Amino acid sequence: MAEQKHAIGMVGLGVMGRNLVLNIADHGFSVSGYDKDLAQVKELQKEAGSRAINAVQSLDEFVKALSKPRTIMMLVPAGQVVDNVIHDLMPHLERGDLIIDAGNSHFKDTDLRAKSLAEKGILYMGVGVSGGEEGARHGPSMMPGGPKEAYERVRPILEAVSARVDETPCVTYLGPGSAGHYVKMVHNGIEYGLMQLIAESYDLMKRGLGLSDAELSTVYGDWNKDVLNGYLMEITSHIFAQVDDRTGKQLIDVILDEAKQKGTGMWTSQDAMDIQVPTPVIDAAVTARNLSAMKGERESAGKKFKVRATAFRGNRDAVLTQLKNAMQASMIITYAQGMAQLRAASKVYEYNLNLEEVARIWRGGCIIRAALLENIRSAYHAQPDLPNLLMDRSLGKAAGTGQKNLRKIVGLAVKLGIPVPCLMAALAYFDGYRSAWLPANLIQAQRDDFGAHTYERVDAKGVFHTHWE
Ligand code: 6PG
Repeated sequence: MAEQKHAIGMVGLGVMGRNLVLNIADHGFSVSGYDKDLAQVKELQKEAGSRAINAVQSLDEFVKALSKPRTIMMLVPAGQVVDNVIHDLMPHLERGDLIIDAGNSHFKDTDLRAKSLAEKGILYMGVGVSGGEEGARHGPSMMPGGPKEAYERVRPILEAVSARVDETPCVTYLGPGSAGHYVKMVHNGIEYGLMQLIAESYDLMKRGLGLSDAELSTVYGDWNKDVLNGYLMEITSHIFAQVDDRTGKQLIDVILDEAKQKGTGMWTSQDAMDIQVPTPVIDAAVTARNLSAMKGERESAGKKFKVRATAFRGNRDAVLTQLKNAMQASMIITYAQGMAQLRAASKVYEYNLNLEEVARIWRGGCIIRAALLENIRSAYHAQPDLPNLLMDRSLGKAAGTGQKNLRKIVGLAVKLGIPVPCLMAALAYFDGYRSAWLPANLIQAQRDDFGAHTYERVDAKGVFHTHWE
């Protein structure tokens, strides 16, 4: 049989995998696609047209069609499916072949898989891919990690298919092992934080100030024009303008208020706790999704606790200006927490991350792309080891100005009885971070009192214990 040689293979032809295959082929690379599900294979065959795409349902045929050493990318759901695919592929592979997991796998799973495959001579990369279906088709942000030699092998393909900003591709080698999947995880943690902040601003404007959906669409559209510009702001503006086909109502008003999640935001919080980095905005965003899912309980509690909401009386336009400013400060603080987590994780997991590069590749293609990322990139360019974005001159100045209005907005939300956990968490983080003194001396004293855990003193070195009265 005459063998057709393809530069890369894709396992998993769901919409993300299929779109990435089409994107790869559009950039001149021949690509082979495999899926267990015949319907997915047929869909790709249909969409492939005259492109150099080979879509098959036989793993044997798929592997044989690849040029050696083979490069196989997977875009399948995280978890057991990834292990199943690896297990099925193994009998067909040879030393030097490369497997790339382009899904949202947990970074610790990626490390385990890389280690066990390395023992068999197989290279393994974890590559975060962000941008949803559109991104996969027309240019995602890509976050690759793993052996450098493996990256060099796929670099031309990744650089060709990823989004571009200022003529540079939104992809770079991030670091060894699970560096790519870790960075993607934190990307999603930041994504959760920004989404919840926007949702809180919606709640304040709708239930608090009484804005209509059309007005909300306009506000988010306006916010998207300057400092708050970003993909999430843009889609939010469109969402409020969308009419439901079924009812003719605004679609947003017929969508159930229960947020789902696949878990990447939760993993970000969990690991932040493990490595002891405070990321309260991300934590609060995860919690807010969990609380939203308790719809039944919320309904019962709503009947039990009829807190009389204070009606808003004031200058609506003035509050909208404050809110915009508060959002800017909160968003800076959210990125600051995510980046601080990456900085710490880079040391703990020995990723050797270049945070300027991380910010650079997030400027295009991904879900959290925003004008702010150029400021973040330039902050790390000026100071590669910046401990926190709040310590950057220009971002710190913007946050420092915005916090005044953040304070007013949080105060208003409290008065109106509207929950704004992420706005509050952003403010509390800011106030905690800027406090040279915190009441943690009392925590030390309490621990020593009940558990003889000892404490340190401000006036002498060493650890001390007191027999507390
Ligand atoms: C992206 C998204 C993508 C996906 C998330 C959604 O960067 O393109 O983050 O990875 O939409 O998995 O996550 P949740 O289901 O947890 O909200």
